[in-house]
Amino acid sequence: MFQNLTAAPDDPILGLNEKFKQDQRSGKVNLIVGVYQDESGEIPEFQAVAEARRRLAGPHKANYLPIEGDPAYGTLATQLILGSDAPRMAQGAWVAAQTLGGTGGLRVVADFLARCQVVQTVWHTNPTWVNHQAIFQAAGLQTAAFPYLDAAGKGLDFTAMMAALEQIPTGQAVLIHGCCHNPTGVDPTPAQWQEIVTLLKQRQLLPILDCAYQGFGAGLEADALACRLVSEQIDEAVIIQSFSKNFSLYNQRVGAAIFLTKSQAEAQVLRSQVKAAIRANYSNPPQHGAAIVRTVLGDSELRGSWQAELEDMRQRIATLRQRFAASLREKCAVDFSHISQQAGMFSFSGLTPEQVTRLRDEFGVYFVGNGRMNVAGLNESNLEPTTRAIAAVVNSVVPDTVPANA
Ligand code: LMR
Repeated sequence: MFQNLTAAPDDPILGLNEKFKQDQRSGKVNLIVGVYQDESGEIPEFQAVAEARRRLAGPHKANYLPIEGDPAYGTLATQLILGSDAPRMAQGAWVAAQTLGGTGGLRVVADFLARCQVVQTVWHTNPTWVNHQAIFQAAGLQTAAFPYLDAAGKGLDFTAMMAALEQIPTGQAVLIHGCCHNPTGVDPTPAQWQEIVTLLKQRQLLPILDCAYQGFGAGLEADALACRLVSEQIDEAVIIQSFSKNFSLYNQRVGAAIFLTKSQAEAQVLRSQVKAAIRANYSNPPQHGAAIVRTVLGDSELRGSWQAELEDMRQRIATLRQRFAASLREKCAVDFSHISQQAGMFSFSGLTPEQVTRLRDEFGVYFVGNGRMNVAGLNESNLEPTTRAIAAVVNSVVPDTVPANA
């Protein structure tokens, strides 16, 4: 039965990361996966997370969580993105499910939309995160793209995006990153967000906001702007959160799918359908990661410490962006100044697939094939070798000093 199978392609992000691990060159640089690394290239643990883990140590509670996960966690996660005084929370017009990271949250949303035939097509930005289409298609939904980047691939083409959104048939879904757009790092301005929300409302399109990087763009509160505008102005919407990045809990798989409804009565019906979708998938979520997040968000001291460390990370990435752009300006004939204006962990470099391949093969510098780079993978020791390698590729001359691994 299995003998005629053909191999599926490697995942463009996680598959490439496997190749990176096998690369024996000592000076290799990993700018692939959206993971925050510190100066020494390690994934740091937040002090608040370490303290929460200490507090949670003790007799193991082994019983199943509810299908939709820990309710206290769901409330705290929703308050973080909507604001602790969000009127719709007081009204009960929302449902939160604890999910297996952001990807698991997207899949719960996709399964729910498909099983309840809420929409047929999910429209996404072009480009979007490499896994978005696969997740919604796997649930049986169609996907289609609307324009996002300008012709130079460096900024938002707001006019083209709005014109395309106008044409999407009423009753379909629009998937967009609520902050820190992946893969481009290009976000709408607050004023543009307001226009987008007004249009989605007028056209009766279902917003699906993917928010995996809250705190890495303009700040923890500022990054929630799009979700809060949607929550305040549109009756029905979906938000997906991940705590992989902003809690450094990548392998704990902690996320949430938040559904906004018109009323508490509708929320109850919707909750039953979300539970049915989860039960047919992974039954119920694991406990530990969500307990860590609940402990930190529910304790003002731990929360303050977490927030301060997250803000330090955000600022470090912003500084790296400036230094990286300045170093590229010195060495390259090509303009990379857009890197300094983008937000979050990612930049869309504008490098071609051939240039990305050369960077990997000749210099051991790994980008995703579409030219996306994780700025949070740069540090004091790899920043200059990386810019020299990029200069060598885009200027098409061998640089004076090539990285040790070349
Ligand atoms: C990324 O885009 O690098 C992250 O969201 C990790 C992943 O699962 O692709």
